[in-house]
Amino acid sequence: MPNWWKQGIVYQIYPRSFQDSSGDGIGDLPGIQERLDYLKWLGVDAIWISPMYPSPMADFGYDVADYTDVDPRFGTLEDAQRLIDAAHDYGLRVILDYVVNHSSNEHPWFLESRSSRDHPRRDWYFWKDPAPDGGPPTNWIDRFGGNSAWEWDEQTEQYYLHSYLPEQPDLNWGNPEVQEAMLNVLRFWMDRGVDGFRVDVAYRAKVAPQWRDNPPNTDWHEGMDPYKRLQETYTKNLPDAHLVGRLLRDVVDEYDDRVLIGEVTLQPERLVAYYGENNDEYHLPFNFNLIHSDWTAEAVRDQVDRYEQVLRSPRLSGEEWPNYVLGNHDVHRLASRIGPEQARVAQLLLLTLRGTPTLYYADELGMPNVDIPEEMVQDPWEINAPGLGLGRDPARTPMRWDDTEKVGFCPPDVEPWLPSGPEEAPTVSQQKDDAGSMLSLVRRLIELRRSSPALHSGSYQSLMAPEGVFAYERTGGGDAFIVFLNMTDKEQRCPLPPHVSKGSIALSTHLNRNDERVELNVDLAPNEGVLIAVDGA
Ligand code: NOJ
Repeated sequence: MPNWWKQGIVYQIYPRSFQDSSGDGIGDLPGIQERLDYLKWLGVDAIWISPMYPSPMADFGYDVADYTDVDPRFGTLEDAQRLIDAAHDYGLRVILDYVVNHSSNEHPWFLESRSSRDHPRRDWYFWKDPAPDGGPPTNWIDRFGGNSAWEWDEQTEQYYLHSYLPEQPDLNWGNPEVQEAMLNVLRFWMDRGVDGFRVDVAYRAKVAPQWRDNPPNTDWHEGMDPYKRLQETYTKNLPDAHLVGRLLRDVVDEYDDRVLIGEVTLQPERLVAYYGENNDEYHLPFNFNLIHSDWTAEAVRDQVDRYEQVLRSPRLSGEEWPNYVLGNHDVHRLASRIGPEQARVAQLLLLTLRGTPTLYYADELGMPNVDIPEEMVQDPWEINAPGLGLGRDPARTPMRWDDTEKVGFCPPDVEPWLPSGPEEAPTVSQQKDDAGSMLSLVRRLIELRRSSPALHSGSYQSLMAPEGVFAYERTGGGDAFIVFLNMTDKEQRCPLPPHVSKGSIALSTHLNRNDERVELNVDLAPNEGVLIAVDGA
């Protein structure tokens, strides 16, 4: 029986921004529960919820103060249980975020650790004496602003390590008690029915770091992310991260049918190491390479073919399952990165490639970035390194459900935590019954993917295509489809591959070419993508 997460589609929810049920302008878990019927209607299989644990919100939940509870802004533990159970009743799986590398500085573990050098939990975090010159132990810099990754503690006169904000001290996975406590967090949630975890910055988890300076990045120049001043030789993608991956996987394997997803930003050759040498780490190391790719047919095809090729490498077991991500809460919105027309082409790509797709909430509407006025900026990254376009608020704005004043996200008399966007931005209610909308396109694609063995589990082969067009074939279970993606604003004539003479259009990103017959060639409008069902496959 294939695993659900191979055929399934994951939908990421940023809980602050999906649905506010309590009337404070911040989304919450009961709000998500109210919207399960929408997700069922859309056809996704699993929701991944970004952190909803108690948190001082220095990094909007990625600074966890208690891994086994729910922040009151998001609800209660009982609300979490109700949501998990209700999602299961709808046939939806629930994936939680698991922040492996750091906790909040307000987590009781850290408060104890920092209380004195002799505290039994001192060693749960990384504490170091100053370097001989009195400064920080290494030159490492933190991720949000490029300041020292070491924070001086006046009281105990040592530095502690924080790869992100000073409010996010790094956990010491070399300490067996930390391992036990953190692994029990997984069990706690799986006992409550959670179907899997997305492991935050999985490739940073540290067991026994070498305290050595990172070399400078000689390509760095003013105007770039200050954090990129150094290479990350000693701070990420080290053997430690694999050790932690294996520990997590062992615990996840104590339970049936759960999924472990790792957040790892690497090129395919290095990324696949996170499946584990014996396929014993992450089921799905997130593949972000399409997010970072140039948006041309040639670049995208190279990325997909390269990844497919690496997955066939004899060094791997052959069981490693691909996955693709086009948007998330850390990058600009897809529709703003590549434009609204190509955003439609991109959804056709995402939902017809071989491997598990992850959809970011509101991308199914073609939601663009929302401009955030300076006085409303929330993201610490934008606050610490302003004006470089690094801020993540524009892609974290409220889900737009309808055309009422606060777009159905929160009550009309309440201000949402981030602006919900200009009047002309898309809403679910506008798009739901419009056959030509992005939402209808995505829903139809999901439906096709679910019902076609070729699309959800068949093979992938790229095809020859005119310049500017990416073409590939998906075959399996007696089904075959050909996808042509015109990634230019010119018309294109595309020949069917020699072994296929006829087919019909199952879907086009442009309005209704459904069932149009295709022989030898198919003509594409500018920015059009088509999915062709091959005759007699
Ligand atoms: C990656 C998360 O996706 C991001 O939102 C967060 O700020 C960092 N990890 C730190 O936890």
